[in-house]
Amino acid sequence: MHLLDTFQFLTLTVSLTVASDLETCECKPKINTCNVVPCGLPGSNGLPGRDGNPGPKGEKGDQGERGMLGPPGKVGPMGTKGDLGPRGPKGDEGKNEDLISLKAQVTALQEEMRMLQDNINKYSKAMILSGFKIVNEKWFKVHTSEETFEEGKKICSKNGALMAAPQNVLENQALEELAQNFNKDIYLGISDEVTEGTFRYQNGQNIIYSNWAENEPNGARKENCVEIYKNGQWNDRPCTDKRLIVCEF
Ligand code: GLC
Ligand code: CA
Repeated sequence: MHLLDTFQFLTLTVSLTVASDLETCECKPKINTCNVVPCGLPGSNGLPGRDGNPGPKGEKGDQGERGMLGPPGKVGPMGTKGDLGPRGPKGDEGKNEDLISLKAQVTALQEEMRMLQDNINKYSKAMILSGFKIVNEKWFKVHTSEETFEEGKKICSKNGALMAAPQNVLENQALEELAQNFNKDIYLGISDEVTEGTFRYQNGQNIIYSNWAENEPNGARKENCVEIYKNGQWNDRPCTDKRLIVCEF
């Protein structure tokens, strides 16, 4: 490569020299002069010069065509609440007669309900006097005489029932009401005869609700049965004592 450059340079120099010499040679016939030395023939064209330096940066090209639609971006944050919409059109005017009739029906129904409630209260009182009290799905029925705990179990069992044993406040209140109405304390179907200190229902299950009076139960092995006072509170007492018997269905 270097050699080629050198050769090109030399060739160029010679060409220029020859050209320069030729230029100085005036090929005009001199007057009275014998043109002895003829001008040399014109030299051949020299080799093309070296490539020039890179030109200046071109102008910015035109904008390309629009690319294809990209995939959808992530869901943006929730926007602010929009303004309240315009008020809707006014509704049709209600029929006054219909409204009056509807009000009359409501009043009649209210009166009917009041009468029904009155009747329920009367039936309820009559039931209690007959020894019945219904609370939720439980029916309590008072037996006419006071008996021992063992006798009470037999009486209820004969009627396909168990001795009353309240398992919540409502049931306890129902028995309290019966005790007040009959003015007598009632035996509950609860005892700790099997295990001292562990009170159970007749089916052997431990009690899930109690309403002991202050300092009760206190009878240890001497008091294994339970009564409910007229104030609704409980006391353990000897099972041989006689108390009002109430069965539950
Ligand atoms: C009293 C006691 C009571 C006991 C009962 C026995 O009322 O307060 O705890 O069970 O006597 O008769
Ligand atoms: Ca007691």
